[in-house]
Amino acid sequence: MAMLFWMVVLTCSCGVVISGNIEVPECEPPDYPQWGGYGPRQDVYLAGDVIHYYCDTDTYIGGNFYRRCEDTGDWIGHTPVCDPPSRFSFVNQTTTADPAGMNDAEKAADALRDSCTSTKEGPDNYWMGMLTTPGQLFRVMIFLPKVNVAYEVLMLKQNGQEISCGKKEGFVDNLNWEFHNCPEPNNTDVIGVKIRSLSAEPLKLCEVVAHTLTFPTCMDPHVRIENGRLQLNRKAAILNCDAGYTRSPSTRIECVRTGIWNRKNLYCMERQWETGNNDGISDTDP
Ligand SMILES: *[C@@H]1O[C@H](CO)[C@@H](O)[C@H](O)[C@H]1NC(C)=O
Ligand SMILES: *[C@@H]1O[C@H](CO)[C@@H](O)[C@H](O)[C@H]1NC(C)=O
Repeated sequence: MAMLFWMVVLTCSCGVVISGNIEVPECEPPDYPQWGGYGPRQDVYLAGDVIHYYCDTDTYIGGNFYRRCEDTGDWIGHTPVCDPPSRFSFVNQTTTADPAGMNDAEKAADALRDSCTSTKEGPDNYWMGMLTTPGQLFRVMIFLPKVNVAYEVLMLKQNGQEISCGKKEGFVDNLNWEFHNCPEPNNTDVIGVKIRSLSAEPLKLCEVVAHTLTFPTCMDPHVRIENGRLQLNRKAAILNCDAGYTRSPSTRIECVRTGIWNRKNLYCMERQWETGNNDGISDTDP
């Protein structure tokens, strides 16, 4: 058992397990997205092993779901990111006759899928939300109750244009997110989202989630760190070291311009044995 343990430790740094005459390439655990993770979790992976990434609720994966450990000891492709919902600074809607407190536009932006709101009946009634930070809107996710729906998703642009991200018409028979991808190149400078009813029925919405890119935005920097991994989003990569290792003075790199990370030397150092306070220096000294 101890032998096996040592073999794993020793081979982690060279990327290849030598067993007899057969070389089996291996990969270290991969970088991973903030607000998400991957599975299966192992201390070491062999060439051909496949992992899948996931995102937490209401965040959505941008990039490849699956990655494979290659013969080179690298994971194929890029580490995906999880996009958290873009915040709305203000929401409103054309209301029903219900008292405002019971039927509030906020219920479609409160992160609770079981609290829903509804507009007045009749086409052209709408729900709208203004984004805290305008940007490139690439996706709107809508959680609907089980009813007949007919609506169009519109992006509200800085220049006053309203451009469609698609429609949905029909009966919703399973509770799930409805996805609307907003087409390029017209999805830039978006300041808000409007959901416009296309039917005589009241428009019922339980949750509206917008995903925007705000600038700058970056992809996987592909920095390989011995005994450590990066936790990524579109703006920053944060260093995490394996147990027994401590972080370098720089602990993160940042996306400074679209596609460009600043350069910082990130590494993990083996933790030294604590010498204790026998030299008289206490923990509270600077
Ligand atoms: C919602 O807010 C927008 C922007 O302030 C405004 O133009 C619109 O009239 C409002 N709609 C309703 C129904 O209050
Ligand atoms: C979208 O963008 C293209 C190219 O810039 C333009 O020709 C087209 O009119 C735009 N569509 C809308 C609905 O504004």
